[in-house]
Amino acid sequence: MKEAVFEPQWYCDPHYAELERKNVFEKLWLAAGFTSAVKNNGDYFVLMIHGQRVLVHRLGKEIVAYVDACPHRGGVIATAEMGNTRPVCKYHGWAFRDGRGLTGVPMGSQFESDDAMRDRSCGRSLKPLAVHCVGPLIFVNLADNPLPFEEQFNDELIDVFGRMGETSTMIQLSFKGDFNWKLNAENVRDSLHPLFVHTESFSSVLPDVTDAYNQDRIVRLQQTEQQDYARYDPSVPALRDLSYIWRTYLDEGSYWYDSMVQRSLPHDCFLNMLLFPNTNLYSVGGRYYAMQQYLPTSATTFDYRLSIAMPQMLQRFDAQGLLTSIARSERYVIDEDSVILRRVQQNLTAMAQRRFRFTQGDYETPIMQFMRYMGGAVYQEPPTCQA
Ligand code: FES
Ligand SMILES: [Fe+2]
Repeated sequence: MKEAVFEPQWYCDPHYAELERKNVFEKLWLAAGFTSAVKNNGDYFVLMIHGQRVLVHRLGKEIVAYVDACPHRGGVIATAEMGNTRPVCKYHGWAFRDGRGLTGVPMGSQFESDDAMRDRSCGRSLKPLAVHCVGPLIFVNLADNPLPFEEQFNDELIDVFGRMGETSTMIQLSFKGDFNWKLNAENVRDSLHPLFVHTESFSSVLPDVTDAYNQDRIVRLQQTEQQDYARYDPSVPALRDLSYIWRTYLDEGSYWYDSMVQRSLPHDCFLNMLLFPNTNLYSVGGRYYAMQQYLPTSATTFDYRLSIAMPQMLQRFDAQGLLTSIARSERYVIDEDSVILRRVQQNLTAMAQRRFRFTQGDYETPIMQFMRYMGGAVYQEPPTCQA
């Protein structure tokens, strides 16, 4: 056991959400989605990042990203959450050919009465954002000078991204989360909770995990005097160590579409890519890929985005029904977590005002790493003692 690394106010106080906006969401690479969401010229989807409307848009061969705010009076290029459109503002028609600089103003003389100035953009443009595509994944970065992608993700991860190949058809759902986004990011790094929270839903497909549970005996404790546990290593972990791969043996049998898709990742494993800060990406036997994104909207709410994508098809088939049923079962598992996490949120909010001692287990090292980074690098607070 260890003395807890986290402070409950990290999960409910807007002060910390603001530091996260500055030092995480507007600084680091964020997984935006799968390339198959923007297959054709003009396809786009929106990603809301701390209130900023970010558009990921395919223009010709290129996938670009920009803040969807027109430099005229704040109009938008896209009025929906996803669709197909030209890079033209929907309020008064200003055009931004490559999703960057202003290239056309309809009824230009209404805007500029000086002939000499009429054909000049004077540097007006959308705010372009850095994009990095690898395998079927699109990443965006909101910083002016983004850090190198390799500084955030290790070689093994980047290699697996590449090996995922292309994605074909996909489905995307969004719903509201009514707790702090970090509870989800930490929960997916919590290797023990599936045994308790997802007992039914996981037992048949993850036999190794269930076996470990059945063999590990309950330790009966004697009640002893209050005593401090050791503290977790207080140094701030390297950013690159916060994202990693976790493999679990998977036994799902075979499915009717197995021979119709290019299964380029292992067939007998649930391959989980935990991507700091806010993404959980996984391959289920190479059969399908899922991406969960936790996008904060306040200190205590977030948008949950779930995307399921099929790998490249060897033989074309209509996968809509299949994707819907996969999404439904994924959603069921997500709801199992949310029942608990909502209560955890209530407790952390209550305890932020009071003195209460939390404790963490040795198995929680990846979660404690996550928390130490938040505490040290994001909030820049020295580790404190809560007693
Ligand atoms: S707000 Fe975009 S053209 Fe007017
Ligand atoms: Fe879970």
